[in-house]
Amino acid sequence: MGHDGNAARGRELFINEERAGCTKCHSVDGTSSKAGPDLLAVGDKFPRPELIRAVLEPSADIAVGYGTTIVETKSGGEFQGVIKQSTAESLELMGADSKSVRIALGDIQEQRGSALSLMPDGLQAGMSRQEFTDLIEYLVTLKQPESAFTSNRGMPVDIPELAKPVALRPFFAEEMRFPHSFVQKPGDVRSGLVWFGQLPGTSNAFLVVHQTGKIWLLEKHSTNETKTLFADITREIFNERGPNGLLGLAFHPKFLENHKYYLKHQVFEDGKIATTVVERRASPDFRADSGQASRRLIKIISVTQDHSGGCLAFGPDGFLYIGMGDTGPQQDPQGHGQDLTTQLGKMLRIDVDHADAGLAYAIPADNPFLGRPDVRPEIWAYGLREPWRFSFDPVTGDLWVGDVGQDRIEEVSIVRRGENMGWNVYEGFEPFSNRYRKDGATYVPPVFAYRRKYGASITGGYVYRGDRHSSFYGVYICGDYVSHRIFGLKQQDRALQVVRQIGAAPQGIASFGTDERGEIYVVGYEGMIYQLDLATANFDIQP
Ligand code: HEC
Repeated sequence: MGHDGNAARGRELFINEERAGCTKCHSVDGTSSKAGPDLLAVGDKFPRPELIRAVLEPSADIAVGYGTTIVETKSGGEFQGVIKQSTAESLELMGADSKSVRIALGDIQEQRGSALSLMPDGLQAGMSRQEFTDLIEYLVTLKQPESAFTSNRGMPVDIPELAKPVALRPFFAEEMRFPHSFVQKPGDVRSGLVWFGQLPGTSNAFLVVHQTGKIWLLEKHSTNETKTLFADITREIFNERGPNGLLGLAFHPKFLENHKYYLKHQVFEDGKIATTVVERRASPDFRADSGQASRRLIKIISVTQDHSGGCLAFGPDGFLYIGMGDTGPQQDPQGHGQDLTTQLGKMLRIDVDHADAGLAYAIPADNPFLGRPDVRPEIWAYGLREPWRFSFDPVTGDLWVGDVGQDRIEEVSIVRRGENMGWNVYEGFEPFSNRYRKDGATYVPPVFAYRRKYGASITGGYVYRGDRHSSFYGVYICGDYVSHRIFGLKQQDRALQVVRQIGAAPQGIASFGTDERGEIYVVGYEGMIYQLDLATANFDIQP
């Protein structure tokens, strides 16, 4: 395909309701007012070949938050659309005609997700080759405008790249790569690796977590490497398209004494998707799961199957922190992030070693909202959208959270006790909605935010605390799932001092991992683990 398209003619086609009809489902002004994603910055989000693919094969890779839901009603009606609102009384779907229908929950016979995009196949059928090229050229020109906020020091207009990037070394031979399901036909589940970490007490054994519910033990010997199944909870969990399934793992701080570890995953029960945190035990020799049933600690009902967080980790205080997303739909229309009566859109903190009456855990005595009526006592901080990955700096104890944004901005924050991180009043540094804004409230801005030009889905990482003499010592390393860029940054008092693109990953960055020496790894969604060889680069050399 040549690049000799004409964007102006492509735009004509885009808005022509009789021809391409793209504006039936897409706004391009950042309002997200239609059934499909707002395409304001789609030319930043995707390179040309992926834009072509998005138009030719809409169902190959469905944008998170824009899956199709099918509802059958008791009176025999059938509705198909993208969920726009979901309350205790009704569900609102926006269909292909961009009209909304509201269906009373009591009237719903069945509700299910579809593997097919609401965007129809074959939209290019009536176009000449030149017209299609023009249309794609128009999409390429859709770049996020510079806003007043881009001058904010936490969201630099340009992120310089290290002249010599950090090398990524495959951690095992390519043939060992873990299974990854590609979408070949509608209905295929897309799933991959989501977590990696060292098995405590060993020097050469690691756990690798797959979204479908499988956990492998990976062992590195001097001459070879092996993988064996550590646990398989496939049958206990819900895993469909999108960021759900088995998403995170955390070892109990006293794992070597009590063998306990914790998982965060989705379940489908009583017709609803929910996020659960469960406790499991490893076998006496730690080399496999014990096979004993999971002990469920917490269950949180989701609104849609997206944005359920994914991460859990023990803090330096010994308590378990759980990142919980707003669970959609897009915009967080009910303001869950700002609502202290729900666990959605929060950082939660629980004590797994004790139990309060009626709970499978205890509430730590210094949780910020403990004792306030109508407030969920598990809440540690709020105003989060999709805190997919977070970690603690082992030296300072700072809690670093990568919070995935909606259509414009990705953000990284240091989150402290009781704080309001702003969603959905703010997305990054920019105002997002005034609907749930409260006078006098303090919304804590991120340390670092970036626009679509640099990526479309933040994956939080770790502060590097490996080699003390490395130029990366104390640098927070994170990345973007979509753009594959890896960033390094330094801050003081939560103000960004320096940020650089330090490298790029060959696969989608689903997560970062660490080992006992504090070295950092990239978890490639498509089945590989890479070690960051930080000795190959220097963070302090001005790019
Ligand atoms: C009937 C509604 C509908 C029409 C018409 C439609 N789209 Fe879409 N489009 C969607 C939905 C829903 C999605 C999100 C699901 C997905 O990724 O397939 C989407 C996704 C996209 C994406 C990917 C966006 C992202 O952020 O991942 C692009 C690009 C796109 N559409 C371009 C177009 C163009 C160009 C046209 C006109 C030729 C068009 N669409 C017509 C509904 C529609």
